[in-house]
Amino acid sequence: MALMTHRKSAPARPGRAPLARTQTRYRRVYVWQPAIRIFHWVAAACVTVLFVTGFMITHPMVNAGTGGALSMGAIREVHFAAGYVFAVALVWRVFWFIRGNSFARSGFPCFWRGSWWRALIGQVREYLTYEFGAPPLGHNALAGLSYVAALFGLGAFQVVSGLALLGQSRPGGALDVLFGWTVPLLGGSFRTHMWHDLAAWGLCVFVIAHVYIVLLDAHQYRNGLIGAMFSGNKFQRLDDEEVEDRDDR
Ligand code: HEM
Repeated sequence: MALMTHRKSAPARPGRAPLARTQTRYRRVYVWQPAIRIFHWVAAACVTVLFVTGFMITHPMVNAGTGGALSMGAIREVHFAAGYVFAVALVWRVFWFIRGNSFARSGFPCFWRGSWWRALIGQVREYLTYEFGAPPLGHNALAGLSYVAALFGLGAFQVVSGLALLGQSRPGGALDVLFGWTVPLLGGSFRTHMWHDLAAWGLCVFVIAHVYIVLLDAHQYRNGLIGAMFSGNKFQRLDDEEVEDRDDR
């Protein structure tokens, strides 16, 4: 932990008492372990590659428009490879949910706890009223809910439905045996494709909202939110104290 200060001059007040300046004190706290940071950027890369290649598979004319720079076979291989990496990353994140520090579990939707609901409602109210309080050091309740819904709702669904669709190209093969049973549950092959496509757009909406909210929070809370996903460190505001202005600036 390290303490830092940031000084701001108060606005000039003509004909009024001497100027004061505020001194805000921050505490640096190590929040995200390397495992969480690596997971974040691997997941971000996978979701991006999966969306782009998936879009090209569904709309082959996009590739044709580039002069067929890549063969459709290569695009499919990249899509499948990113899918496998994403699946491993999800398992890795579950492991670190258990094994990691308390921040690795922060914001997890504990529906059975009143405190989680209060934190969720409080966070929604902050966004609606634009009055921001002190942010939690880990994920807030709304962020935690969105990550679980996106990754372990939509993301896990994409992995299972994707492997089921892949299994269809080798009936009786390992993937078909392990995941093929989900195809009739989803309404047959055509509908499984459709749900897989729809969930991809759901993830796309999540990413746009996520990046927007991360930028907004980083600006409102000024707690080093984005840098923390690289360095692991966040800044916690301790207090605001007014100090006498001196002429030695
Ligand atoms: C495809 C793109 C992305 C995906 C799928 C994604 C996904 C996620 C997930 C799942 C988490 C939770 C991490 C965990 O606890 O394991 C997270 C947190 C976070 N992401 Fe992203 N992310 C993406 C892009 C970005 C980008 C571009 C930025 C930077 C501008 C960013 C900044 C952050 C930050 C700062 C947090 C922590 C926020 C908090 O404290 O709640 N993400 N992201």
